Amino acid sequence: MDFELKSLTAEQAAQLAVDALLVLVPDTLPKTTGKAASALHELIANAVQHGDLEAGTGKCLACYRPAGFKAARVVLARAGDGSAASVRKAVAAAMSGLKLPQVKKLGLVMGLLPDNGSAVQAALMACADATYVYTHTKPTAKSRHLQRVTVGVTQPDAVRPGFAAGKAMVAGVEMAKEWANRPANHATPSLLADAARALGRKPNIKIEVLGPKEVAALKMGAFMAVAQGSAEPLRFIVLRYNGAAKTDAPVVLVGKGITFDTGGISIKPAAEMDEMKFDMGGAASVLGTFAALAELQPAINVVGLIPSCENMPDGLAVKPGDVVTSMSGQTIEILNTDAEGRLILCDALTYAARFKPRAVVDIATLTGACVIALGAIRSGLFSADDMLAQALHTAGEQSQDLCWRMPLDDDYAEGLKSNFADMGNVAGRAGGAITAAKFLQKFTGELAWAHLDIAGSAWKSGAAKGSTGRPVPLLVQYLLDQSTQPRAARTAAARKAKA
Ligand code: BES
Ligand code: MN
Ligand code: ZN
Repeated sequence: MDFELKSLTAEQAAQLAVDALLVLVPDTLPKTTGKAASALHELIANAVQHGDLEAGTGKCLACYRPAGFKAARVVLARAGDGSAASVRKAVAAAMSGLKLPQVKKLGLVMGLLPDNGSAVQAALMACADATYVYTHTKPTAKSRHLQRVTVGVTQPDAVRPGFAAGKAMVAGVEMAKEWANRPANHATPSLLADAARALGRKPNIKIEVLGPKEVAALKMGAFMAVAQGSAEPLRFIVLRYNGAAKTDAPVVLVGKGITFDTGGISIKPAAEMDEMKFDMGGAASVLGTFAALAELQPAINVVGLIPSCENMPDGLAVKPGDVVTSMSGQTIEILNTDAEGRLILCDALTYAARFKPRAVVDIATLTGACVIALGAIRSGLFSADDMLAQALHTAGEQSQDLCWRMPLDDDYAEGLKSNFADMGNVAGRAGGAITAAKFLQKFTGELAWAHLDIAGSAWKSGAAKGSTGRPVPLLVQYLLDQSTQPRAARTAAARKAKA
């Protein structure tokens, strides 16, 4: 799908040769003073006056061949105050009626709202989200009809950065959705590594893939314990995006890449177990973020780490009570083989330190408890570093990919104590998302570290079952924000964070 940014007046919008026109209408209606009002202003004024276009963000009116318009279909959508959140809601509502084979070219009129880059960014993402179609294992599905979206604003230059970011985020989200949606037999650790290798052909991206032998040499005992029950060989994928000087400390992103989570010997119940194909959503979001970086080429260095394997029950599988030695040297009593995400992540976090990163962010569909705590709206954000937590939270608000900070008090780690190892891999049911984060924290040493639990936000269940591509927008926004900060300020911030 193509996006194009244009300066469009109300008159020009009415004359746009597209299959459908989506007009975002603000709360405060534009005044039609002076000479004859344009067809667009007249249509809006009439519809509002007669109660056909109600107030309230997301309220829509679909018109067919209205007078004075070139487009056959014109949808008016109330976009509140024109903020990113309102625009997202308005576009999502309006697009539900525009997923027609006849609608290949869409005009998205934003010129009645104040020019706002974040709102344009949100509009592109909402457009793409509404029209995404998964086809990889369903060739009979009708692929996306929409081919071209022309976004009309008053001053294109004012929103160009938001437009570019939005376009790249769409590419990233779609890559993440694509891989997360693929069933486990079409998205094995080896296939994920191939997808990463394909990214390695883009400018400034390098890929390295480690297999069982290399991972054994690194002594990643926790990661290997999860993989040992599966016939699929594990992969440890290392991605590098180099957009800044070699001496510039990178941000490291670590994505949980469990391509299928049966629970292992602590096996899960059958109901909805298919959804555990989405347990590599963190890994998919790292791949998607690199796809977006390739497009945007920001001045920053980023490392992506993806430990990937299946969690299977088998004669060779790790057993409850088994003790393994992690790459950090700390021993772990695996009390529940279904708490496998933290076992693969802990070794990746230890590995992350070798890049002397300025920040490490792991992304994982880690706990059912996080779904209970926050539902599907906000991802769980855990960090002891206030500045990093603030930066991620802000990036989430700005990109409409929300998260919420959770506590990390040391008292939450009490339940991880073990009589047979340095720690157990589970603490009781209470506060399960937090105790999982406390487990990970034991492997982060002096790193500026944050953890995003995306168990609730990475996919939707039910009739709309499918990956959301989250938190690619949040991650890309965070990296862009970091890259625009002057280097001196960044290093000062890093020093302060350490102190
Ligand atoms: N991948 C799951 C977490 C999950 C469960 C995400 C349901 C989304 C929906 C993870 O590996 C897991 O099984 N976690 C256990 C941890 C428990 C054994 C401490 C959980 O949440 O039940
Ligand atoms: Mn599990
Ligand atoms: Zn899992």
